[in-house]
Amino acid sequence: MSTPAGKYNLDTVVQRFQFNGDFSAATTYGSGHINDTWRLVFQSAGAPVHFILQRINHNIFRNPVALMDNIERVTTHLAAELSDDPDRERRVLRLIPARDGGNWHRDDEGSYWRAYRFIERARTYDAVESPEQAFQAARAFGRFQQLLVNLPAPRLHDTIPDFHHTPKRFLALEQAIACDVANRARLVKQEITFALERQSMTGVLLNANLPERVTHNDTKINNVLLDDATGEGVCVIDLDTVMPGLTAYDFGDMVRTATCPAAEDERDLSKVHLQFAMFDALARGYLSSAGNFLTGREIQHLAFCGKLITFEMGIRFLTDFLAGDTYYKIHRDEQNLDRCRTQFKLVESIEQQEYAMHNLVQSIAG
Ligand SMILES: Nc1ncnc2c1ncn2[C@@H]1O[C@H](COP(=O)(O)OP(=O)(O)OP(=O)(O)O)[C@@H](O)[C@H]1O
Ligand SMILES: [Mg+2]
Repeated sequence: MSTPAGKYNLDTVVQRFQFNGDFSAATTYGSGHINDTWRLVFQSAGAPVHFILQRINHNIFRNPVALMDNIERVTTHLAAELSDDPDRERRVLRLIPARDGGNWHRDDEGSYWRAYRFIERARTYDAVESPEQAFQAARAFGRFQQLLVNLPAPRLHDTIPDFHHTPKRFLALEQAIACDVANRARLVKQEITFALERQSMTGVLLNANLPERVTHNDTKINNVLLDDATGEGVCVIDLDTVMPGLTAYDFGDMVRTATCPAAEDERDLSKVHLQFAMFDALARGYLSSAGNFLTGREIQHLAFCGKLITFEMGIRFLTDFLAGDTYYKIHRDEQNLDRCRTQFKLVESIEQQEYAMHNLVQSIAG
């Protein structure tokens, strides 16, 4: 069959994977911003069977082979850990092997492709709609980390080195201020002062002697499939950034992305704040699954890490604004500055509630 897939010839790509059945349709799928995703339909023994096909964005992920090696090891380990789970087919992503026996296909243009079994009766949400969803997503991410605690050696590849090295991110900001290539430093004096006043927090996690774990590193709500019927977190997806890291990075990014009711580029900053009920749900959900392996030191940093990761994103947006918007796509002037401002406003909101957040975590962890 012939499929409308933009500039890609999906029929050729599909033939390179070990799918069962007759290929009958492909539609673009999901609202991911990084990769190109299609849902494929095959007919097998008279019934439709679905798969996910993805073209990996190798402009962002510079080493797709290492990335796929990480994903293969992680999904294989998760599947073994879940072998007794009656719903195991839906609880872990499963790669479809390529015809050459590997787990990816490289086309003539140099694009890398992979395929997964489609997880049925579950969906993602682009924004958290309720504390219950925050609880379920955090529980799923905590469980994901917990199941990977004993991933056998060797260490996973660092597919994006220094991803959360906040002091290096801060250094990049200082350099951008000093160079001021776009002559914009004069427009953001307040934001620069805000950042410089908080430099001391940048090294806290790295100096806290926290254990290295396997972490997801993109813990937005839309990277968890929630069950259509029960709302339960069924499966953590989007494993491109799985690599060695600190649990605090994952929990911190959940706090950053799930507790604020406003969009990341909201201009009305009065809408930007940490909703305590969402934080409460995240902490309960996360500790309900991760609580049994986290060390006391890791738990101690849970209230803090949301502030740090939010600050880190704020300085990255500010750096990009100062550099003339070279990294993050913008759709209007000053969008990166607006993004920076929401992050800094959220940092302030966390500062105001940090004491209560800390007490809550301690009371849940017991
Ligand atoms: N195995 C699967 N089964 C069902 N749906 C899936 C599966 N894998 C991905 N999806 C759907 O496709 C969407 C895009 O997938 P994914 O998150 O991997 O893409 P992405 O472009 O990397 O996203 P992001 O913008 O979060 O980085 C998901 O939000 C989800 O709805
Ligand atoms: Mg995603």
